[in-house]
Amino acid sequence: MRNLQVNGERLWASLMELAKIGATPKGGVCRLAASDLDGEARRLFIRWCEDAGCTVRVDQIGNIFARREGRDPSLPPVVTGSHLDTQPTGGKFDGAYGVMAGLEVMRTLNDLGYETEAPIEIVAWTNEEGSRFSPAMVGSGVFAGVFDLAEGLARPDNITGVTLGAELERIGFAGPEPVGGGPVAAYFEAHIEQGPILEAAGVPIGVVTGAQGQRWYEITVTGQEAHAGPTPMPRRRDALVGAARMIDMVNRIGHAHAPYACATVGFVQVSPNSRNTIPGRVFFTVDFRHPEDTALTEMDRELREVCERTASAIALDAEVKEFWYFPPTPFHADLVAAVRQAAEAQGYSHQDIISGAGHDAVYMARVAPSAMIFVPCVGGISHNEIEAAKPEHLTAGCNVLLNAVLERANAE
Ligand code: GLV
Ligand code: MN
Ligand code: MN
Repeated sequence: MRNLQVNGERLWASLMELAKIGATPKGGVCRLAASDLDGEARRLFIRWCEDAGCTVRVDQIGNIFARREGRDPSLPPVVTGSHLDTQPTGGKFDGAYGVMAGLEVMRTLNDLGYETEAPIEIVAWTNEEGSRFSPAMVGSGVFAGVFDLAEGLARPDNITGVTLGAELERIGFAGPEPVGGGPVAAYFEAHIEQGPILEAAGVPIGVVTGAQGQRWYEITVTGQEAHAGPTPMPRRRDALVGAARMIDMVNRIGHAHAPYACATVGFVQVSPNSRNTIPGRVFFTVDFRHPEDTALTEMDRELREVCERTASAIALDAEVKEFWYFPPTPFHADLVAAVRQAAEAQGYSHQDIISGAGHDAVYMARVAPSAMIFVPCVGGISHNEIEAAKPEHLTAGCNVLLNAVLERANAE
């Protein structure tokens, strides 16, 4: 059997049902990692997988695997999935699409009574977003041996400090299974593009050849708290003024490395955050991305130089801590080819694309052949409650996923 097709209406219905968990008034989803709502979404996903005849297991970092047995259970599985957690102003598709697409693949194979040679597993990774607990991709990172388990479980909530491990325990998803270790034949992840390229080109399928690299920083600027009234301007050591100048320079560094660089400050804490006290301490994060590692290295140099110069000009102290790094990551040529071939066989136009976002596939690429399938999203908008995708594009991506998975699961 070749060129099989999924049930696009069922895929859409599952996405809409899942999006009710954490639904926001503006039509988005707020389902932070290891929150009660994340637990609810996980339980719904497990119920659907069990209804589809899968065997479910949860590992010690909370990653969920749902397995459909193959003719030869001793073969390494073909794995597909993504994540169920969202940003605070998240949408219905970032992450959820990859998990529901995996489920739709299972349901379609059940409808057809199709037996694969190798087992197939759907995975829902823990804390992909890196919003509540940083960095991103923690579940897949522990799976791939990038972080050790203790380090992953100890990640603190960025506001309250409660750990990821404690929260997984609380929502019932600190599983018993050891994390990773076993061989994976192939890993595929379907995802919305989260940028404007495919929509602008009018192309339904992005054949993702790799992901750009990232460098994340935590910067602490220290000055001195003082009274907003009696303290003359020349005597002030205002940490927020220093941070504001640095934040502007972060943006300029992004523009200076156009067209591919991205530079973002998305998290700022001002202390004591009192309107008539000069701020004594500011903590903020920097997110740098670029498809070339040499450019990221140059951006790193510029950031450190700018922070030091800005701080010393107004007698502040600036600590620049590199918090997270991964280099630009190419995906596996054979799997990329399998995605391209599946798109062609289905008659979908396609183009090669590099992922601007981080994905669990980036860490999976370190331990297994990995690749991704992108579909357009409306206006290129993501990490926003208005994030949207067209049902026909989601169906197309899932058809490509199904056939790419089958190609690998039946490979010699
Ligand atoms: C994950 O959403 C990322 O920051 O790319
Ligand atoms: Mn995602
Ligand atoms: Mn995301």
